[in-house]
Amino acid sequence: MNEESIESTLHEERLFPPPAEFSAKARIPDRATLDSLVQAANEDFEGFWAAQARAEITWHKPFKTVLDSTNPPHYQWFTDGELNVSYNCLDRHLQDKADKIAIIFEGEPGDITTFTYHQLHQRVCRFANVLKAQGVTEGDRVVIYLPMVPEAVIAMLACARIGAIHSVVFGGFSAESLKDRIEDAEAKLLITADGGHRGGRIVELKAAANRALKEGCNSIQHVIVLQRTGHDIDMTEGRDLWWHEAETRIDGNCEPVWLNAEHPLFLLYTSGSTGKPKGIQHASGGYLLGALTTMKWVFDIRDEDIFWCTADVGWVTGHSYIAYGPLAAGATIVMYEGTPTFPDPGRFWKICQDHGVTIFYTAPTAIRALMKYGDDLPAGYNLSQLRLLGTVGEPINPEAWMWYHCIIGGERCPIVDTWWQTETGVHMIAPIPGAVPTKPGSCTLPLPGISAAVVDEKGHPITTPDRGGYLVITKPWPSMLRTIWGDDQRYYDTYWSKFGSQYYLTGDSARRDKDGYFWIMGRTDDVLNVSGHRLGTMEIESALVAYPKVAEAAVVGRPDDIKGEAILAYVILKGSRPTGGVGKTLTEELRAWVADQIGPIAKPDEIRFVDSLPKTRSGKIMRRLLRTIARGEPITQDTSTLESEAILSQLQGKE
Ligand code: WT7
Repeated sequence: MNEESIESTLHEERLFPPPAEFSAKARIPDRATLDSLVQAANEDFEGFWAAQARAEITWHKPFKTVLDSTNPPHYQWFTDGELNVSYNCLDRHLQDKADKIAIIFEGEPGDITTFTYHQLHQRVCRFANVLKAQGVTEGDRVVIYLPMVPEAVIAMLACARIGAIHSVVFGGFSAESLKDRIEDAEAKLLITADGGHRGGRIVELKAAANRALKEGCNSIQHVIVLQRTGHDIDMTEGRDLWWHEAETRIDGNCEPVWLNAEHPLFLLYTSGSTGKPKGIQHASGGYLLGALTTMKWVFDIRDEDIFWCTADVGWVTGHSYIAYGPLAAGATIVMYEGTPTFPDPGRFWKICQDHGVTIFYTAPTAIRALMKYGDDLPAGYNLSQLRLLGTVGEPINPEAWMWYHCIIGGERCPIVDTWWQTETGVHMIAPIPGAVPTKPGSCTLPLPGISAAVVDEKGHPITTPDRGGYLVITKPWPSMLRTIWGDDQRYYDTYWSKFGSQYYLTGDSARRDKDGYFWIMGRTDDVLNVSGHRLGTMEIESALVAYPKVAEAAVVGRPDDIKGEAILAYVILKGSRPTGGVGKTLTEELRAWVADQIGPIAKPDEIRFVDSLPKTRSGKIMRRLLRTIARGEPITQDTSTLESEAILSQLQGKE
């Protein structure tokens, strides 16, 4: 978040109490009920989480140990308990919810498919047997590279059923990114599709998978291919098989494998400060518990709700609030394959209307993008079923919040601004909609059992209202990451070195106002937040310098009205600095290259070719200075290391 928007939220004084009609029916109907939960967690932290875990999860073998802190920061939860996550998402609903709709799927072309819990259970069991037939067993890694279709959820749950560890790779990532992730996870099996529908075009998933597998990925033994688009693709005999063919002659019964609560459920790769994405590793029991409690506390989920989270299953939001959370809670979800603007920007509102969505969860960037089309567009749809709205992924500016509140929510729906991360697994700081008054732009207060603080450089809590600092989590929590796959050292270094193994470092900066409300200010590391997607500046830089013509590159973020942050790359080419038309052609070449290396989301919005970059005496790129320049703010830093005035105007994009 840039300083300008910090300024604008600093003056944000509006307070929106929970609507009485909402609170009257809410699971947590008032502040006193919430306070008693928070207090229970403060008084007996382990007792609180143990009670939640017993109430929410169906255990095969009950746990005795709640939190094991003997080897920090490798905290473990419910370690001696046994469960199966797919059992908790499916089998346990079969008695009273077998015919309840679990998934309403709408493809981008308009095709609609529904699955009851009974049907979903059958599909998952059958596919779990397909996985077994391909030699997948407990602990094996399976990479899922699929469009936003129900089979993505089926594949995840099938892995969970047999104890295989899935790693979903977002369909918008390139062949190169897919390959890196497969290799890091040493995955045995890849599940992909011929393609998916997005923005009226076909996303060529199988073609990308073929490219990834051509250059490496030696651990992959088989590829299962879902037929979605039906267009021609290349299949490799002996390695690739069609999903629908693999399912014929396969037994439909599959008993869940009972697993230790700490058994890894999934890996999900995310960007950090270095070039290489890290495989965030989540465990089974604690993660499931967090997914369930937040569905109830933050989303106030009820049996009759139609819950729609617009995220992709390739991100943690899709894991927790498309797959695991809602299904474990026995809810009905909507799943949509395509973009919000296809065939027109009314698509989201039409889906809400057609399927009677009651809880709608999306990203601020989507709200800002749709807001641009004006108030008449949503007014053309019946949105009266909506009762709760949510946002995630980046700070929401008060203007977008107000639009969401008035135009989409009809001033009747509370908005839950949920702060969390891939690493935290589930919501951490978010309003309880029936109990906590909201303020536009604030994620409000930590959830029961979650201890968050804003601390200074030395780790001391900041008590002055509105003074920014490091956002840390001061106690372990059940759904926390367990480590970085195969790299414990990076786990310590990234999250537990600045303030020791007591405080989990989130990487965000935040401030608390006079009421104790949290306001997220932005990242403190070299991570960008572009349209709610997390990208490392180093990741984009290494992609750029991998291009033969590039000598050096520095990437910074700059505020953007729609995307939150836009990507600006400073590039030094081998040879002379291009100008005019040559520069334009090279810009397009480089943008295409980055899309190829990482994915279209990482394409720089602007590239400035320069003769040199500002560096400190020890040779480090002066990123802060570059950020200041990128934002067009007055320069307060020392620029004496710059070779000339001409360089400054190059950096400013003036020539
Ligand atoms: C980063 C985590 C959480 C799922 C989606 C992103 C930013 C997330 C908010 C929010 C302000 C937010 C933070 C965080 N972020 N939610 N409500 N307000 N910032 O997961 O890719 O792991 O990114 O997203 O900077 O650290 P992620």
